[in-house]
Amino acid sequence: MKFIDASEIFQDEADRWGLPAWTYNNDELTRLEIEQLFLRKWMFVGHVSDIPNSGDYRCFTMGNERAVVVRDQDGQVRAFHNLCRHRASRIVADNKGHCGKSFICPFHGWSYNLDGSIRNIPKESAFPDMDRDGLGLLTLDHEVWHGMIFIRFDGDGPAVAETFAEAEKEVGLYRIEDMQPLDKPYKYEFDIDWKAVLDIDNEGYHVPVGHPELFDLVGGSYTDQQLEGPLSRAFGSFRERKHRLERNRDYVAALPDESYLPASHQHLWIYWGMFPGFVLTLFPDQVEIYQIYPVGTQQSVMAGVTYALPDEREGMQKARSINRKINMDVGDEDIQLIKWAAEGMRSTAFDGVLLSDLELGVASFQKQLRELLPVVTLEQEPEAGTVGEINARLMSKRKIAAVK
Ligand code: FES
Ligand SMILES: [Fe+2]
Repeated sequence: MKFIDASEIFQDEADRWGLPAWTYNNDELTRLEIEQLFLRKWMFVGHVSDIPNSGDYRCFTMGNERAVVVRDQDGQVRAFHNLCRHRASRIVADNKGHCGKSFICPFHGWSYNLDGSIRNIPKESAFPDMDRDGLGLLTLDHEVWHGMIFIRFDGDGPAVAETFAEAEKEVGLYRIEDMQPLDKPYKYEFDIDWKAVLDIDNEGYHVPVGHPELFDLVGGSYTDQQLEGPLSRAFGSFRERKHRLERNRDYVAALPDESYLPASHQHLWIYWGMFPGFVLTLFPDQVEIYQIYPVGTQQSVMAGVTYALPDEREGMQKARSINRKINMDVGDEDIQLIKWAAEGMRSTAFDGVLLSDLELGVASFQKQLRELLPVVTLEQEPEAGTVGEINARLMSKRKIAAVK
């Protein structure tokens, strides 16, 4: 794997100062981020084992867009806009479930086959002649990578597998496609901008102080690595380490020696991140997948879920349960840290941040954001009603500069 060092990220002193405060609290920018970023990036919707049977479905919402992912009658995963072609209702009432052989719209009962084609229109004779073939559900881009289902509402760009090419060999070791859901999914809602949530998550500099128990587990081995482009990796090893805390000692002792993983990966906790907000965590006993995204101005969500291979061994069961406890505590600590930092950023005394070489992930995240949404480079908040227009102007200037 090819990692980049701090000098490649910090080319300019200003790259260490973080984003201007206004970018964390601006309606128009949040709308732009949803439209130009999140609707155009791959979003994780679930795992193939979440929809094992034909008719099982899962929904996902981003901004004004709604998706439904379903397993069809041939066992294929399909993705559609969750939008009835009659009068725009969602076609399933719940966010997940089983719809049988068809989706039946809860409004007037139009029904759709699992391949998206129209099935039945109640009182069809009341409508003028219609082209039934054109009335199917609208399809969405989707991709299944190692059993993880992603959708994209808009735009194009590399596939998930292509984006994760550098991680392919490592991720392939974990047999994620054969896994089953482990614990209930979790969802945290924050009255905080999504970027402020990610800023904390994008670096391990805070681990020794912010997560004393995690630090006891992996100690100074915790390392952040940045790849060229949207991928980042972090890892910590608990091999041959003296653990002060009993819970950590119990975790290490409980993990069975026999593993499907090679020796190199049996003692590692590995975090793979994909810009803007997707994280795949590889543990020797389970995987955890979560993503962070905006749902409004100063409103964001961190939603996650765990999966594991079927394994009834007592040691593995115990290790899994301790892992969850450690990571739930880490999550609680992060939530507190996120809140304190976000509070400070609202203060009139806040005058920017200073990033170290150990906060490369934050700098890299912000650099990618500046490239995609150049309006965030402005120190002063643009006048109301101009954010989109200024961003478009900066984008087109950049295109002209690239051609010249
Ligand atoms: S909106 Fe779906 S049937 Fe009318
Ligand atoms: Fe953290």
